[in-house]
Amino acid sequence: MTIQWFPGHMTRARRQIQDKLKLIDLAIELLDARIPLSSRNPMIDEILQNKPRLVLLNKSDLADPELTRQWVAYFAGQGLQALPIDAVNGNPVKDIMARSRELMSSKIEAQIRKGMNPRAIRALIVGIPNVGKSTLINRMAGRKIALTGDKPGVTKGQQWIKVGTEMELLDTPGILWPKFEDQQVGLRLAATGAIKEEILHVEDIAFFAMRYLAGHYKEAVKERFGVSEVPDDPSDTDAIVELMEAVGRKRGALMSGGRVDLEKASLTILRELRAGKLGRITLETPQEAVGMTEE
Ligand code: G4P
Repeated sequence: MTIQWFPGHMTRARRQIQDKLKLIDLAIELLDARIPLSSRNPMIDEILQNKPRLVLLNKSDLADPELTRQWVAYFAGQGLQALPIDAVNGNPVKDIMARSRELMSSKIEAQIRKGMNPRAIRALIVGIPNVGKSTLINRMAGRKIALTGDKPGVTKGQQWIKVGTEMELLDTPGILWPKFEDQQVGLRLAATGAIKEEILHVEDIAFFAMRYLAGHYKEAVKERFGVSEVPDDPSDTDAIVELMEAVGRKRGALMSGGRVDLEKASLTILRELRAGKLGRITLETPQEAVGMTEE
């Protein structure tokens, strides 16, 4: 689902989350492990304020494990606990519960000291579209939850989902907007499939992806697409286009007359990248992130 984020939508989404914050103990911020910073809402700190927060790096099954470790350290440096998960095929619930308990331990201990039975931790999942919020809510609920309110600005009566005896989760996530004013962020989001091709040209997205892959995952490109030459200098625009054409030829993406159909080749590159066919790939590193300013 592609959401058009007009300023009014952003204001409403933000207000809805801030209303929900009053009900919860813990915010669960869901990010895409392949683009942990680009999949972040630019105003997240301001929106969540001082609420205890657990960061989840979802789709870690598709991300580069070494870089995921580096990202966990990056967030730790910011005072945030980040946990890599796979909401589809992993077993994330136990780990999320353990981390949540840890984050809430002083509150839980205070309740015990007062002779109270510790109350279940009330939590809310927040994140940009497509990051896996519904998938995770269903995993935590242990069943499929109908998310009729899964649009910014659409409200419905929210309910608490019991996650074992120790957590209660709001059944509608907080949906946030990505930082799309930054073209690099837009390209990263599009390369992972978080935003759809209508917004950016498919050739531009594939060009960005190919250039990144040539710079960081040369062997994976050679192996997957059966090409012998991958340019050493990823800033050589012509060489990257030639590489895309070589992939197109290998995949039979040809127009009449034998010229490469670059749009078709681009779609192939992106489809295979998103499906993990090139291996586990992360499209931004914490070092590169240093230059990306927060709003
Ligand atoms: P949202 O509520 O945040 O918008 O996201 P949602 O759960 O709908 O998930 C978006 C897509 O991401 C889904 O694919 C879902 O299966 C996939 N996904 C979620 N978590 C993970 C994960 O940990 N690993 C992997 N590999 N995929 C994950 P989809 O239904 O095929 O949608 P689409 O790809 O056609 O957009």
